[in-house]
Formats: sequence, structure tokens, C-alpha cells
Amino acid sequence: MGDSTATIAAAHPEIDYLALEVHTPGVGNLLKLIDAQAINNIRIIQHDAVEVLRDMIPDASLDGVHIFFPDPWHKARHHKRRLIQSPFIEKLVLKLKPGGYIHAATDWQEYAEQILDVLSSAQQLENTAADYAPRPEYRPLTKFEQRGIRLGHGVWDLVFRRKENL
Ligand SMILES: C[S@@+](CC[C@H](N)C(=O)[O-])C[C@H]1O[C@@H](n2cnc3c(N)ncnc32)[C@H](O)[C@@H]1O
Repeated sequence: MGDSTATIAAAHPEIDYLALEVHTPGVGNLLKLIDAQAINNIRIIQHDAVEVLRDMIPDASLDGVHIFFPDPWHKARHHKRRLIQSPFIEKLVLKLKPGGYIHAATDWQEYAEQILDVLSSAQQLENTAADYAPRPEYRPLTKFEQRGIRLGHGVWDLVFRRKENL
């Protein structure tokens, strides 16, 4: 619902953020937070993130990409719908500046393992940790995540950087 984006952008007024979401209530809530907190460093595009990246984002233009809790698509027959797969990551890496980062977080262990595999096998990326990363301080705990942690569920963060020299 945009809470993390609003919190991160408010804490880093020197950075410009582009938020991509198709879910109208999520976009509406983020607009509400932007207004209430007078945030002026977020732009929102309500459209498929895959198409926005492909058609609107120049190569080597992003300092970082946050993919927090992408839909896990629990059922095996739906796994092909998962966002984080090699063909998408290969295109996403090209949009990062050298040294730019991809930060993914998920509460679904088996998807965390897939993300680790996919990002580790991208030649242009290097892991900032041995495998999973500690939660970077800029990523706030959402209410959803706090509830999960109380129930004993795990959350996995992965932070990879585009190599400076390809
Ligand atoms: C599980 S929710 C997580 C929401 C939020 N990132 C969070 O941490 O609370 C996944 C979100 O991704 C959005 N989404 C999924 N595929 C998308 C795509 N291709 N482009 C834009 N948004 C997408 C869905 O609409 C949904 O709101």
C-alpha cells in the first residue's frame, strides 16, 4: 500500500523515486501518504512494471531497484508468473548504473531460494552478502511483516550490485 515507499522517500529527500504499481488502492494510498507528508521526491506510474522498464527507462539510469514482497505465486503451476526470473533480471540489470543495486525481499522461503539462484547466476551482478543479506536499515518493517515475525515466519532480503566493469 505504499507505506515502505513513502517512508523511504521521506527519509531520503535527496533521492528521486519512481513507484510502479498496478493496484489502484495501493496507488491511491501512496498518493494519500505523499499529500499528508508533503513528500516531493516520488513519481508514480500505474502500469505493468515490466513494460515500464522495457519502454520508458533508459539503460544505465537507475541507482537501485527495490522489489519488496513480489507475489510469490505459491502453486507450482503458477511459478511461471513470478516476476523474478532470469529473462527479466537480464533486462533489469541493463537499466542499472554500474554499481547500482537490486534489493529484493520476500517472506516465502522457496521464492527466496529462487531469487538467490536467479540473481547469483546473472553474470553482471555480485552479491553484497554471502547469500541472504541483513535487512538494510532503510527498509522499514511493514505491519504485514511485523505480524509475520510475531507468528514465527521468516523474511529474506537479497541485495546484489551491478559490477562496475562488465
Ligand atoms: C504481495 S504485494 C506486495 C506489495 C508491497 N510491495 C509490500 O511490500 O507490501 C505485490 C504487489 O505487486 C504488484 N504487482 C505485481 N506485478 C506487477 C507488475 N508487473 N507491475 C506492477 N505491479 C505489480 C501487485 O499489484 C501487488 O500490489
